[in-house]
Amino acid sequence: MKKTPPSDTPFKQLNFAAKAPRALMAELEISLGREGMSDPEFKHLLGRLRKNRISTDSPYFMNQLFSGVRPEILEAENLIAESRTTMSTYEASGPFTLIELETVRALNSEIGWPETAEGVVVPGGSAANFMAIHCARSTASEDFRRLGNRPNWRIFSTREAHYSLEKAVLALGLGLESLVTVDVDDQGRMLPKSLFEKINEVKSEGGEPLMVIATAGTTVLGQFDPISEICDVAQGLWVHVDGAWGGPALFSSQAKSLLKGLEKASSFTFDAHKLLGSDLTCSLFLTKHEGILLEANDVHGGEYLFHEVSGGDLGGGSGGNYGDVTSREYDRGRVSWQCGRRPEIVSFWGLWKKLGTKGVGNIVDTKFELRDEVLKWINQQKGLKLLQAPPYLNICVQVLKPAQNGKFVSDKTWSRDVRNVLKRENKALVNFSVTDDGTTFLRLILAHHELRTEHVVQILSWALAVAPEG
Ligand SMILES: Cc1ncc(COP(=O)(O)O)c(C=O)c1O
Repeated sequence: MKKTPPSDTPFKQLNFAAKAPRALMAELEISLGREGMSDPEFKHLLGRLRKNRISTDSPYFMNQLFSGVRPEILEAENLIAESRTTMSTYEASGPFTLIELETVRALNSEIGWPETAEGVVVPGGSAANFMAIHCARSTASEDFRRLGNRPNWRIFSTREAHYSLEKAVLALGLGLESLVTVDVDDQGRMLPKSLFEKINEVKSEGGEPLMVIATAGTTVLGQFDPISEICDVAQGLWVHVDGAWGGPALFSSQAKSLLKGLEKASSFTFDAHKLLGSDLTCSLFLTKHEGILLEANDVHGGEYLFHEVSGGDLGGGSGGNYGDVTSREYDRGRVSWQCGRRPEIVSFWGLWKKLGTKGVGNIVDTKFELRDEVLKWINQQKGLKLLQAPPYLNICVQVLKPAQNGKFVSDKTWSRDVRNVLKRENKALVNFSVTDDGTTFLRLILAHHELRTEHVVQILSWALAVAPEG
């Protein structure tokens, strides 16, 4: 059955207070059994599932870095689902391969990289970060293919970087000690001076600096590491920029300066499924280093699958020539870790095609306007305390606890308690985090395509109206 776009009033059936797993398991008859069911029973079951899913299509859903279901994305997703093909070979995916290559080209051009720059669609921003480390190590050592990791490789990042970096060094066999934490300033941005010192420290102790991973749009605070300065002090190391959240700033006249110096970096993570609302997931790993994706990822044993001539126009498809290594690899399975892979890129390409580069930029710019209106309102509220002036679309705000005589006091757990009340009452799902001293605060994410100032004000008004018990 096709997915249908949300109705005009998609926010009525909020379902944030997910039921306890055991109750839900029984209510929805989730356990599998020997006997099947009839068509009407199956349809009925799917209807109940739909009713019980978490309503991420509501603008009151701010728990993650994505929110909402864009109608044009649903249309593209239907095409993806109907096509039911894989991106591994040109002969199986045809136009979708060209769509991936064109999207990579266009994004690289926005970054300011040469035509020879490359990229591949990966299953999420975490996977893009994994790929960055993999490409960096493939570049750093001629022996890598044969011998694997070097034990003293070190990767420089900050405590504000996404947790996928820890997962990556674990999964890629580098070990947690390979991650070196660079100091941040009082806003949570990498300090280039500290990076310089840490690189030298590692060298003096016999370590081998491998790469630097900067973040463009940190997960909690939405901060941007100073990419240009980082590239300048990185001493020729591979600099990867994780733009899973902040990447769309590329399109924005207001926000592009946050990515200053990106053209100097080696690679970039770009998630189209967060702020831009594409198929979840739709992520790209981009790199300016020609040939590295094939060099790092191509292996033997694919002769049963990869029959086309690499590169060229693919006019006739003569087949069988595997030696022609180029930056335009049409059989995308050779540069990817995946064999079977959905053409989810169609959803992002479709959005970009429909709105144009200007329209995609508007998505970001209008969110900045909304943010500024919300900040103005927050600054007038005695019960709310901003953690910092947000450079991007994360508003981190502490909810102060109502005390006597209309006063408010700081209470470490109050923001979390308030968040749980909003969730329990099916009003809003907003995430929270903690400062170093354990004070909780709300993280409002401005991502939903239909989000208006009133929605955010409404959530915060609900938060302010929560009364302490007793
Ligand atoms: C900065 C950053 N990088 C990477 C990721 C991981 O992205 P994904 O969820 O697409 O794997 C996230 C997710 O929130 C993120 O915030």
